[in-house]
Amino acid sequence: MGTMFVVVGVTGGIAAYKAAQLVRLLVKDGHDVHVIPTDDALRFVGLPTWEALSRNTVTTSVHDDVARVRHVALGQQADLIVIAPATANTIAKMAAGLADDLLGTTLLATTAPVMIAPAMHTEMWQHPATQANIDTLISRGVHMIGPVSGELTGGDTGPGRMMEPEQIHEAVTRELREEPAGPEGPATGQRWLVTAGGTREPLDPVRYIGNRSSGRQGVEVALAAARRGADVTLVAVNLDPAVLAQVTRKHASAAGDIRSRHGNAAHGGSVRVVRASSTEELREAVIGRVRDADVVVMAAAVSDYRMAEVAQEKLRKEDTDGTLTLRLVPTPDILAEISASKGADQTIVGFAAETPGEATLAERAIRKRRRKGCDLLAANEVGWERGFERDDNRLLIVDDRDETVADVVGSKRDTAEGLVATILAR
Ligand code: CTP
Repeated sequence: MGTMFVVVGVTGGIAAYKAAQLVRLLVKDGHDVHVIPTDDALRFVGLPTWEALSRNTVTTSVHDDVARVRHVALGQQADLIVIAPATANTIAKMAAGLADDLLGTTLLATTAPVMIAPAMHTEMWQHPATQANIDTLISRGVHMIGPVSGELTGGDTGPGRMMEPEQIHEAVTRELREEPAGPEGPATGQRWLVTAGGTREPLDPVRYIGNRSSGRQGVEVALAAARRGADVTLVAVNLDPAVLAQVTRKHASAAGDIRSRHGNAAHGGSVRVVRASSTEELREAVIGRVRDADVVVMAAAVSDYRMAEVAQEKLRKEDTDGTLTLRLVPTPDILAEISASKGADQTIVGFAAETPGEATLAERAIRKRRRKGCDLLAANEVGWERGFERDDNRLLIVDDRDETVADVVGSKRDTAEGLVATILAR
């Protein structure tokens, strides 16, 4: 890949000391590394450290080196900008486009890929203001590296911990390698079919058998693929409007067939939404499109049974003897069906939500993948208190050689990023 001009933004958090290792690794790779700390960052790690490690002059101010128009020059020259750690404050400033220091002006002056490794307390990460800012940055094509769940300063644990410098280095290297200048993303030109949500099997006109899947993990997979350039069809299975809004916020149309663009000019993927409710509708939506798809991700939670006969009128208590017996028959297994007839160039990915039991998660994932015949299977543990209605998740991914190829922990966005990266690495 040769020597790249890499700008490392360092902002004011305790994780700043870990950025030193990132700078060291990038310099070791032979890159021309320019560190731009914020004034606050210098309270954690001093300027001489950054100059010594990067072997380049370091300033925080837009008033130094004015003759060479330093406040825009770094941004113009950069092949990539990575900000580690990125504090909640810096993320907010980026979302607003503020340019009151050298890092701010550099970010506005660049067309290079921008990657951020957030680090903050869980409460700050989860605050709607921060999340809205993250959404804004992602919609502009900024790449997220973490955060992950783990120990935070002060003894707390939870999502908000910065990814380790080695992992950030890996992500940066991948991005530098994958992205020659131009409008290509690693998934550009690929068509993905992603299902998300939980099916509903009607009992009668007003009742159904359903499950607790919100569809957020699947939606994140669709968005992560689009950010990398894929044209995604998302089959939205009874998604809550708030979840669907993540996809459709900007480009909603009345038609139930919505297209929206994600990523920056560099990765112009898209997400198109089609809706389904029952397993039969989901099957129709998938079977009708599977042939055109390069990758299929079956993240939807599908009912294994449906009513043998759906009542055409509301079931009434007075028509029963006090108890109610439902006769259920199996639904078709969509994942097994598409895996059995898959094309040579297709990748089919299944999901499994497992409650803890005797066999390990990996063992059960391996068994389920074999049974379904898909290429990859992503398993996560669920329970009364786990997996659903919360943002942190763990995905264990097994492949067709029965190997665990990834074990990613973090927000549903992070785990989606990990899964998409694993799929693209195949
Ligand atoms: N799936 C499917 N069609 C079905 C049931 C499940 O396509 N009728 C898909 C899901 O979308 C998911 C995967 O299969 O990707 C795993 O679903 P799961 O319900 O865990 O599998 P089952 O074979 O039903 O296993 P279990 O007995 O553990 O429920």
